[in-house]
Order: sequence, then C-alpha cells, then structure tokens
Amino acid sequence: MAQPTRVAVVTGVNRGIGLAILRKLASGSTGPLVVYASTRAGTLPEVIITEQQQQQSHPDVKILPAQLSLTEPTSIDALAARVAEEQTTVDVLINNAGVYHYRERISNADRTETLETNYRGTLRLCQAFLPLLARSQSGGRIVNLSSQAGRLRWFAPQLRPRFLAPDLAWEQLDALVREYDSAANARGDEVQTGWPPMAYAVSKAALNAGTRILARENPGLLINSCCPGWVATDLGGQAGPPPKTPEEGARIPLHLAFGDIGKTSGRYWANDSTAGTGVGKVQEP
Ligand SMILES: NC(=O)c1ccc[n+]([C@@H]2O[C@H](COP(=O)([O-])OP(=O)(O)OC[C@H]3O[C@@H](n4cnc5c(N)ncnc54)[C@H](OP(=O)(O)O)[C@@H]3O)[C@@H](O)[C@H]2O)c1
Repeated sequence: MAQPTRVAVVTGVNRGIGLAILRKLASGSTGPLVVYASTRAGTLPEVIITEQQQQQSHPDVKILPAQLSLTEPTSIDALAARVAEEQTTVDVLINNAGVYHYRERISNADRTETLETNYRGTLRLCQAFLPLLARSQSGGRIVNLSSQAGRLRWFAPQLRPRFLAPDLAWEQLDALVREYDSAANARGDEVQTGWPPMAYAVSKAALNAGTRILARENPGLLINSCCPGWVATDLGGQAGPPPKTPEEGARIPLHLAFGDIGKTSGRYWANDSTAGTGVGKVQEP
C-alpha cells in the first residue's frame, strides 16, 4: 500500500543544519511529503531551486517556500494560518531556526533577540501549530533544536529545580526568564546570581523546559528537544572548528521527527559527545 503523504514544517532552512534537514527530506528518504520550508526571506535555498528546475527532487516530495521571522509574532501567526488554510493536518514541526551571539558581554538588543528567537518565538510557533498537529493520523511530532549549552549543569544549584519542577507552569517559566533578563539587562549581575554567562544558554534551557510543559499538556503528541552536536555551520563555527558536518547534525532531529522513538516525549536528546554521529539518546537536560 502506498505511504500517505505527510505534512512537515521546518524552520531556518536557508543554511546550516536546517538546509541539511531539508535536503534529506527532498531526497524522499523519509517518504512522501509536503514540506513548508521556512526562511526569513520567504524564498527557497538556491540549491533546492536548482534541483527542482533540473527535476532532481523526489517526485513524492513537494517543497513550498514559506516566510517566518521568529521575532515577529504576526509572522508566526501568519505561517500557521496559511498552513491551516492549505492543509487539514501537520505531522511534523522541526524548530531548527536559532541564533547564537557567541560572546559573554552582548548588547541588550542581542540578548532580547536571543530570547525572542530561541525561546519565546519558537514556543509561540509550537502553540500555533498544536491544533494542526493534533489532527495528524501518524501522531504529531515537534522537534526543538536546543543545545548542550542549555543544560542545567551550567546553572547554579538553586536555579535547577525551578526549571525542572514537574508541574512547572508557563507563567513560572516566563518569570524565570524575566528574572534572568533583569539581572543581565538592568544590573549586569546574572553570573553572580547563578546564571550562565551567555544568553544563548538561558534561551535553550528555557526551550527545554517549555518542551517539557508542551509534552505534559499534549500527551497525544511526541514533543522532544535535542542538541544536534557541534556542527560546522555559521553558528557552530564561532566556537572553533566543529567536528560534525551539517548532514551529521541533521541526524538526531530527523530521528526524532521520523524515526522509531516509541512513546518518548518531553525529553532532551543528544549523543554522549558533541562529536558523536549517532541518532542520540535521552539525556539529563
Ligand atoms: N551548529 C552547532 O554546532 C549547533 C550546536 C547546538 C545547537 N545548534 C542549534 O541548531 C539550530 C541550527 O543551527 P545552525 O548551526 O544550522 O545555525 P545557522 O547556520 O546559523 O542557521 C540558523 C538559522 O536560523 C535562522 N534564524 C535565525 N534567527 C531567526 C529568526 N529570528 N527568525 C527566523 N529564522 C531565524 C537563520 O536564518 P537567517 O539566515 O535569515 O539568519 C538560519 O536559517 C539552532 O537552533 C542552533 O541553536 C547548533
């Protein structure tokens, strides 16, 4: 029997890991698909356009350009509204887009961009797609690209249980992030008060915590976050020469989106090392 066509939404596909994910989907290896391939510009990457023109894309995969800017709530809502108009369901949402200002002292504007993109915008997109994911016949999945930088081992012991509380509410998580933002923005004492030095780490820890809340509130879906490893992209290259290719970096997110993960939801996945090239396993956040 022919496999049914699934609908996937992938963010930040113009370069890096997002492009590697898109190319894997375009190859047809994950089955028949309609893919909403989102970039800030709203255009498809050149390599995908060329493959489409040369009819090299898999005939069972339809890739549609989509516009998304995670710092603009109207852009998030417009993407969800467009997909709801064109499709009855969404099967997979891969939140790959993210930003990393790799410096300890960053401007307030860069800190705001980091928290808006990696935390608030990404979780707003999840919320916007929940009704469509709930209608998936194959069981809707969300994969949030997080980072080992967001693991709680980098946070002071008194902060860790506040992120990990099993009944953590959205208001409490937002309050935690605002507490960090005030310490960093207004007083500059975030490190003395137990926070890691980089806003990126806080944004990804908050994304992991938001992933747990979403999974708890939506038991019919599989919602996980992961670290793709240390990958040779514009973002990963800021910290030195990364050991992994973008194709290797795409493995864990693709496994969580399409592979057999049983009923695992609300967990953080990674390989044991950031150089590891496996499909990851559940790790302590
Ligand atoms: N590379 C690594 O070693 C590594 C390690 C751990 C986690 N990660 C995570 O993996 C994901 C992909 O990273 P990457 O290494 O592939 O990074 P990348 O090459 O820098 O690509 C980042 C992507 O995110 C998009 N983006 C950034 N801000 C956005 C916004 N406000 N709205 C919409 N899209 C936005 C970018 O679009 P533009 O081109 O328009 O800026 C780009 O497509 C990120 O979430 C990152 O945190 C990466």
